[in-house]
Amino acid sequence: MSAKIIRGSEIAKTIRQEIAEEVTALKESHNIIPGLVTILVGDDPASRSYVAAKNKTAGVLGIYSKQVSLPADTPEETLLQTVAQYNNDPQIHGILVQLPLPKHINEANVLFAIDPEKDVDGFHPVNVGKMVLGEQCFLPCTPHGILELLARSGYETSGAEVVIVGRSNIVGKPVANLMLQKRDSGNATVTLCHTRTKDLGFHTRRADILIVAAGVAKMISGDDVKDGVVVIDVGVNRVGETAEGKALLVGDVDFESVRKKAAAITPVPGGVGPMTITMLMKNTLQAAKQTVGA
Ligand code: GUN
Repeated sequence: MSAKIIRGSEIAKTIRQEIAEEVTALKESHNIIPGLVTILVGDDPASRSYVAAKNKTAGVLGIYSKQVSLPADTPEETLLQTVAQYNNDPQIHGILVQLPLPKHINEANVLFAIDPEKDVDGFHPVNVGKMVLGEQCFLPCTPHGILELLARSGYETSGAEVVIVGRSNIVGKPVANLMLQKRDSGNATVTLCHTRTKDLGFHTRRADILIVAAGVAKMISGDDVKDGVVVIDVGVNRVGETAEGKALLVGDVDFESVRKKAAAITPVPGGVGPMTITMLMKNTLQAAKQTVGA
């Protein structure tokens, strides 16, 4: 068997078109332009490239975007003041503080300081709580992107054995939560594996849908999956440079061995990444609409 490739970049294009049309309509109906601020602390190359991609996509979709870059030694208090400034800026509907933050800054303090109405990452405890309860809120971008990828590719999650590898607050925990809920792209039987899981392969080989977000290059091989599995690879690991000097990226899944057994698999790059950015744009649009009750 050779797997179908789930091209997130193609699916994202369709959704971005829908968002761009809504951005134009909102300008015409209410004369507002959704605004996003991205705040980057330090100069981690991966974070810098993610933030640049977010701002670029915003521009293409007609969303106003502002990038704030602060030095790595910025005191926590200064970052909190920056967040407060944008909480009070009516041109800005969404605030994104790129993670991870430098070690001397308490991440929770910063995330809790963002106005929940502008929390387009869905990381504020108010939004996390609403998500867990199944209430309307900003959904975290990567988990939401994964649900959209599966839904728009026609893979049914209801009743499926979904196995997730990785328990981060950004991906593992929220995607597990969303997929077990009574909702579209939910109703799955969810197993959440992590670094202390005994016999990881026992679990991954049971998966109908396997989601890997562990941050370890090629940790899942063909021997770890069953025939016909649908694989979502969230990993982005830099393993060198291309001849053109660009970062050489691989996922958490060994694409070549797993594709021989899988029914479908996302590539890295071009799989989950573009969906994450697209869901951020969707949340920014939603944040702007909420300010006018649209
Ligand atoms: N770092 C890795 N993924 C994300 C994300 O979705 N949002 C933010 N703010 N930081 C990240």
